[in-house]
This record gives sequence, C-alpha cells and structure tokens, in this order.
Amino acid sequence: MPEANLVLNNCSQVLTMAGGGLGIVEHGAVRVRDGRIHEVAKGNLEPKPGELDIDCHQRVVLPGFVDPHTHLVFGGWRQNEFEMRLAGKTYKEIAEAGGGILSTVIHTRLATEDELYNRALERLHEMMSWGTTTVEVKSGYGLDTGTELRMLQVARRLGELGFCRVVPTFMGAHSVPGERGQGRKQEYIKLVVDEMLPAVEQQGVARFCDVFCENFVFNAAESTLILEAGKQHGLVPTVHADEIESSGGAEVAASVGAASASHLLQPSDAGLAAMAQAGVVAVLLPGTCFFLREAHKSPVAKMRELGIVMAIATDFNPGSCPLLAQPMAAQFGCIHYGMTIEEALRGITVNAARALKLDSEVGTLEPGKAADIVVTDVPDYRHIIYRLGHNPVFMAIRAGRVIYRQF
Ligand code: NIG
Ligand code: FE
Repeated sequence: MPEANLVLNNCSQVLTMAGGGLGIVEHGAVRVRDGRIHEVAKGNLEPKPGELDIDCHQRVVLPGFVDPHTHLVFGGWRQNEFEMRLAGKTYKEIAEAGGGILSTVIHTRLATEDELYNRALERLHEMMSWGTTTVEVKSGYGLDTGTELRMLQVARRLGELGFCRVVPTFMGAHSVPGERGQGRKQEYIKLVVDEMLPAVEQQGVARFCDVFCENFVFNAAESTLILEAGKQHGLVPTVHADEIESSGGAEVAASVGAASASHLLQPSDAGLAAMAQAGVVAVLLPGTCFFLREAHKSPVAKMRELGIVMAIATDFNPGSCPLLAQPMAAQFGCIHYGMTIEEALRGITVNAARALKLDSEVGTLEPGKAADIVVTDVPDYRHIIYRLGHNPVFMAIRAGRVIYRQF
C-alpha cells in the first residue's frame, strides 16, 4: 500500500516516548518505511520517490494511543442506571438488584454476531477519531460459552479490518449469570474452567484472561483459581482489582504473575508492594472513578514511589464508563488522580503497550517499531491534557496507513 511509505515533516515536537521520558525532538520529522518507523530526525526529511510527504504544520506528533482496557462489544446501553446513580444509588446496589453487568448480558445474548459487530464498529471508529490505534477488547457480557465466543469472534473481525490493532481478552468471570444466582457460583466457575477456557484456547480467540476480583463477585481465591486455569490454556492473566472494595486483587495479580491489574482504587499496601515486586503494570481507569463518583481514587503517589509502571485506559463500557476517548482518560489521570502530564502521556502510549505485552511493537516512535502515529492539531504537547474536552487528533496512522483524518 502506497501510504506505508511516508515522511511527516514540519512537526513542532515529535514525542518518541523513548528513553523513559517523553523523548521530545523539537522541530522533528519522522520517516516511515514499509509500515514501520524508519527514522526520527531533527529538521525536515527529504521525501524519497514513492514516499508521501505530509506537512504537519508545526503540530505535535506522537505514538498512536493504546487503550489497554475496554469492553467494546456489548448489546444495549444503560442510561437508566446512570440516572439512578445521579439520584444516589451506588454501582454495587444497582448490580445487586440485577442491573449492571447482568442487564447488559441479557441484551448481548439476544444480539446476533453481526449486530454486535456493527455496533462495536461504530464505537471503534469513534475511538480511532480520538487517536487510538491499539485497543484491548474483553468478552464478559455473554456468561455462557456460545455468547462469550461470539463476542470474541466480533473482536477478531474488528481486528481483521486492519484499522485498529485489537487485543482480545476472555472475561467469562465478569459476573455470575442471573440464571445461576450467587448460590451456584461454584458451578459457574466450573463452567468457565472446564468448558469456556478450553473452547477459547481451541479457537485461538483470546490473548488474556481477566477476572472481576471483588469480594461480592469472584473473591481472591476464586479469581486465582480461574486465572491459573487460564494460564494452563495459554492466556496471560490480568485482573479487575480492588475497585468497589479492597478485596486482595492486587495481591492476586502479583501472585499469578499478571501482566496488569486494573482499577486499583483501594489496593492494600501489601498488594501494591507485591505488584511492584512482580512487575505488574497498574492500569488506571480515572474516567470510571470520576464517572461513578467514587470516594476512593487510585493512590498514584504511592505507586510512583514504589516504581509501579502506570498505564491509563478508558474502561469503555455501557455501565461504569461510556468513554471512548483515550486523551480524555489521560486528562482525568492528571486532573482527577494527580498524575503529571508526562505520566499521563506515557500512560496512554508506551506503558499501555507494556500492559498488553506489546511494547516491543507499539507505544514509542523508534526505528523498527510499527508506524502507529497520531498527528495532532496542537502546537505543544501539554495542550493534549490542558485543552479539556478538545479532540487533539488531526490524523491517526496505523502501520503507516492513515486510518482517520479530521476534515
Ligand atoms: O471495568 N468492573 C467490572 N467491569 C466493568 C464494568 C462493566 C459494567 O458495568 O458493565 C468495569 O468497570
Ligand atoms: Fe473493566
């Protein structure tokens, strides 16, 4: 494809994200060859024959955004619950009354694969318009083998389109389905372990295995059992940890060797220390914390002190965070959680890539890496965080191909 060879010239700043900081090259340029970063240079680069020459008009260029935690595929929105929460109900109260995840399960089961695909595709386009070039997508609104696999098939089809990279995660342990009730949780765990995981492995449709580790959903011991079983089927563990209550989720993530743990609003000190020791990436979801108006926020200062690698995700889902815009998640990371601009920008690029174990391929602009790039419409990288609600994305490029451009 011709666009796979190009030069991006006249950039005010190229943020390579290499070397532990922002890796800023002032007045830089980028050459892309065969869909990969060929060089990042100071000043402009002479386009070679066959290379598309893109004038960036003194705007910032940085790696395509990586969104390492989303629930992109589902049937049915939940605006009614949003209204209930505004009236004072909590996420947990709504979930325990049969709303929450279980209401999305009903609508997801009723949807055909094509319906799920078409709705998810619209959302994927919106994500791309906000600069996301790699997205993790979880199952978990089926809670039966057929629907879980259908969700993962949809994720596979979205990836095959060649726009965003799609990283699929099996999350059969998102909740106990309504027809079983909490009393039959053990039976459901057995179904996840004995039937779903082997089917997921056999079809090769997931890379990660996730669990909603909460005392009122799958407790620490149950989560460990499921994640260990996932490992037996070749899936890398990741955990929804310590969101609604402190439930030992950070400890679970460390003990099973998870790539990442998400949420972490109320991790214990011991759990955080164990995560630091085991090198588990913290995937922070400040949009969710803000949207649910949670009293607890992730202890970013503690994480920083412990040297825990911090990534940021949207957690896009119909219940706890309907946010598709990764730059806005970064804004919440700074304004709501107290992250620095550098931490937030690393959080949606290089560190998010690390959470997905894709850091050798995406997340920085270094020679040899995939040419996944965002060209912004802002002159200084701080505007990406500072301009609240502004979409800074002028163009999104994946493997050297323009997948979105602002008109
Ligand atoms: O990450 N916490 C569990 N899962 C989602 C919420 C899903 C839902 O409410 O539908 C989350 O916030
Ligand atoms: Fe989630």
